[in-house]
Amino acid sequence: MKIRVPATSANLGPGFDSCGIALSQYLTIDIGPETQKWQIKHQLGSNIPSDEKNLLIQTALDLAPNLTPHQITMTSDIPIARGLGSSSSVVVAGIELANRLGNLGMTPQKKVSYATKIEGHPDNVAPAICGDFVVASYNNNEVNFVKHTFPDCDVIAFIPNHELLTSESRAVLPKEMSYRDAVKASSIGNVMIAAVLNGNLPLAGKMMEKDILHESHRQHLVPHLKKIREFCKAYGGYGSFLSGAGPTVLVLTPPENTEKLVTALKAFDHEAEIDVLSVEKEGV
Ligand code: HSE
Repeated sequence: MKIRVPATSANLGPGFDSCGIALSQYLTIDIGPETQKWQIKHQLGSNIPSDEKNLLIQTALDLAPNLTPHQITMTSDIPIARGLGSSSSVVVAGIELANRLGNLGMTPQKKVSYATKIEGHPDNVAPAICGDFVVASYNNNEVNFVKHTFPDCDVIAFIPNHELLTSESRAVLPKEMSYRDAVKASSIGNVMIAAVLNGNLPLAGKMMEKDILHESHRQHLVPHLKKIREFCKAYGGYGSFLSGAGPTVLVLTPPENTEKLVTALKAFDHEAEIDVLSVEKEGV
């Protein structure tokens, strides 16, 4: 039995802690035979536990404490601590592991609610569970969300070769903002979402670059964002945004402009990984 969870990109600019898309990179869990103790085979680094201390098993056992141990093979092409939902993918895989082995019959709503309580915000876990484009709110312990088709486009991921921890990237955010700015932020986000729903990527991309909730406060942690935004404009991309808490930046582009943008981004930073992805329609 296999469980496949997509990478995700949260925020899409102004949809901070609320909007996210699933992407065509995956964490895959292969469930092998029953064993005496949980055994996780992986090549994801020596600091990632290979026993029940692994986040995958911890999440599964929190949900279903009596699960029978199995041998698990875990592979992932989602880079760690780059803003592409690597830790959310493990949490979601753990929930799905418990759901399948424990026959819990969890609905997407239950999975998203459970995962959001662990992560603290739904913008990575919801698209990892549902696929495609998800808009979600998390208030008073209640998660409400809507999944919708994201318009066709290429998604260029500019992945710097250094990590940025979400905790570090959240620590620079202000504690408060003025009522006037909150109204402005909400109107920018609303138009971005409405444009996505209408399939209007030029307008959605424009609004994605107008965020005032988090990107400006994180600018000093991700100095490459400004330059990538210039390339996006010069080579016909729809728009660019910090992927989740960064440091990855995504550029949405019509496929005919992908090559020019990739060439420019490669010349800009030889050490960054540049991947051409698409929005993944399926969740876990
Ligand atoms: N919305 C979150 C943030 C996503 O930007 O901090 C990162 O997990």
